[in-house]
Amino acid sequence: MDISSTAEVRIPSDPMLQVIGQDEAVKIGRLVGKQRRNLLLVGPPGTGKSMLAQAIASTLPKPKQEVLVLHNPEKPERPLIQINTSTSRRIEKKPVAELLDPNMVPAFVAEKLGFRCRRCAKISSPDASTCFFCGADKYRKVRGPFEDLLVGVGVPDREERVHTTRFRDGREELIVFERRGDKIALLTQKELAKMAEMQQKAQFKVLLPLSRPNFVQATGASETELLGDVRHDPYGSHPAIGSLPYTRVVPGAVHEAHEGVLFIDELSSLGRLQRYLLTAMQEKKYPISGRNQTSTGSSVRVDGVPADFILVAAANINDLSHILPPLRSRIIGNGYEILMNTHMEDNEANRMKMVQFFAQEIVRDGRIPHMDGGAIEEMLDFARRKAKEIEGVSGLTLRLRLLSGAIKMAGDLAITEGKEMIGKDEVRFAIANSRPIEEQAREKYGSWFKASLADYGMKKESGGSEVG
Ligand SMILES: Nc1ncnc2c1ncn2[C@@H]1O[C@H](COP(=O)(O)OP(=O)(O)OP(=O)(O)O)[C@@H](O)[C@H]1O
Ligand SMILES: [Mg+2]
Repeated sequence: MDISSTAEVRIPSDPMLQVIGQDEAVKIGRLVGKQRRNLLLVGPPGTGKSMLAQAIASTLPKPKQEVLVLHNPEKPERPLIQINTSTSRRIEKKPVAELLDPNMVPAFVAEKLGFRCRRCAKISSPDASTCFFCGADKYRKVRGPFEDLLVGVGVPDREERVHTTRFRDGREELIVFERRGDKIALLTQKELAKMAEMQQKAQFKVLLPLSRPNFVQATGASETELLGDVRHDPYGSHPAIGSLPYTRVVPGAVHEAHEGVLFIDELSSLGRLQRYLLTAMQEKKYPISGRNQTSTGSSVRVDGVPADFILVAAANINDLSHILPPLRSRIIGNGYEILMNTHMEDNEANRMKMVQFFAQEIVRDGRIPHMDGGAIEEMLDFARRKAKEIEGVSGLTLRLRLLSGAIKMAGDLAITEGKEMIGKDEVRFAIANSRPIEEQAREKYGSWFKASLADYGMKKESGGSEVG
């Protein structure tokens, strides 16, 4: 190959084109985005299923509908839904405030508002759920079994505003930072009082803001995560001290993904929740109700909450049988199933794609230098060996997460050794040391069995049978 380092590689800006070796999946992925179909991706770990799902989301237009939940004066426990489209846009009245750049506020504030990456500390648009620079998940979901009881304490995935304090003229005062597009508003006592007054008149809450991410991942950890909830208030809807039900309505992933992509890794792990997912897909809406029977939220229900998403799901081949048949047929009936490639032919064009992948990993990591020609050859060789070892074919492996780890380790080595580029030696060392523990143990002790005995401080009896 006439390429002397990964620095020479042009990385496509289209996330779809960054997915290598999965041409059919990428082609279908484009259709899925354009025609709003569903997609089931089947294949082994590290072949790009999550990456493709995010790439599909990036091809979608921004959400056009803002969804509000309104107080229902006749029946407070049946709040109403209102959908505002671009033509009937609600003009949000917000007090004028000082606008700051995301790098002018404290780091923790910029993180909570979705600007600053927790991993690489770079600033990117809060509309993207993953960091543009390092790919880290910017909005960690902190949700647990008792979330229903944590009124107002639960940590949402992306916060609209952050409360904190500052010292002014020797006194501590409460201030609030609020996200406004790509700026951050600083609200002091004066603006906050004004805002409270405005809100009292309005009696609605924005359930799904216009500026929401196009990509929502659901894990199926809980029903409320997927389907939403109405939070508990110990005083119920008591007119004087309770909070009105509409203020306690929380959307689920099926709602948050409205107009976007709902990505579910390991679809089968949803278990019985698959049934609800199926209903949401059929109706394109799903009611939100309090899911904890003992909470005051359980008497509240909001009907007709929109949930019109593109389902992109991933599964391993062995788990296909655990997917609810009607759900699967729903996906096939209005979408596609794709088996991911595990390897590709070893030819000039594909080797170039592989090098593009090396460059992408390096640039995305942001902390490691480029690879020189020798390092590239060494990594390509590793990709060949893996294809042979795992698939038993001659070609280049597409289980790319395997390679990704080795590239980063080689990069870290190059940095600590003060090298300007990753060379052959670093790659060799990384490949030898980024192997799974099982493999390392086999080399150190001769077998997994001996290694496990060593763990107990025992020596293998001579002549004993070998199991590992
Ligand atoms: N086809 C690909 N093209 C480019 N990079 C890839 C590809 N597949 C994997 N990668 C790299 O490996 C990383 C892991 O891939 P990804 O998370 O998409 O795998 P996955 O198929 O979802 O795996 P899992 O089943 O473990 O969730 C990606 O962030 C990317 O860096
Ligand atoms: Mg994945």
